[in-house]
Amino acid sequence: MIELAPSILSADFARLGEQAQAAIDGGATVLHVDIMDGHFVPNLTIGPPVVASLRKVVTVPLDCHLMIERPDDFIPAFAEAGVNWISVHQEACVHLDRTLRLIASHGCKPGVVINPATPVHTLDEVLPLVHHVLVMSVNPGFGGQSFIRASLEKIKLLAKIRESRRLSFRIEVDGGVHHDTIANIIRAGAEILVAGSAIFDNANPRESASRLLETARAAVKTRVQDLSSVAGGP
Ligand code: DX5
Ligand code: ZN
Repeated sequence: MIELAPSILSADFARLGEQAQAAIDGGATVLHVDIMDGHFVPNLTIGPPVVASLRKVVTVPLDCHLMIERPDDFIPAFAEAGVNWISVHQEACVHLDRTLRLIASHGCKPGVVINPATPVHTLDEVLPLVHHVLVMSVNPGFGGQSFIRASLEKIKLLAKIRESRRLSFRIEVDGGVHHDTIANIIRAGAEILVAGSAIFDNANPRESASRLLETARAAVKTRVQDLSSVAGGP
């Protein structure tokens, strides 16, 4: 199932509930919440109190993308604030297996994220533990950056590994998801599309969300059927 996960990073925070609802009215079924600490990435965003306020006004799953150092210290607070999915960066977790199990122990769906320079195979051991793999298609920290094309091969490789190992994680993509990149992202095998500026830099987030979904659904019909042509698989 194709799902659109608007990133509230590009929303007007003074009208957060209203903007999130507009994107949901346009067909979004997940909300992507970017948490930055000024250390792991060169930017700061929000903490658990803002997330708890958002939780009160929307019913869709909250997809919490932790771009922070020491995520174990904050996972309980975000779970308590009402998020449903929590993803952590492979690059930020020395004990990744432990961190993913910690997320699950707090009743949230665990996800793992890889930066553009991180190889897919660094995830081999944890793939059976995760609900989703988030492929960063920009270097994390800011909205509005250009899509890094090499991410498409990583998406294809993940889809191939999932098939060959009979796993069930979902493939999510974050960064530079726009009308002109979405078709290739979908064809490569992604299912959950994070989009910030493509939705909220528009005066009408409902309309932009709905158009993105329409483009994504049209692209499903042209998806790569034969994943065996992808190089580098197991
Ligand atoms: C970047 C964040 C993204 C960001 C995407 O570090 O993780 O979720 O909001 O923004 P766009 O869709 O504008 O590239
Ligand atoms: Zn994100």
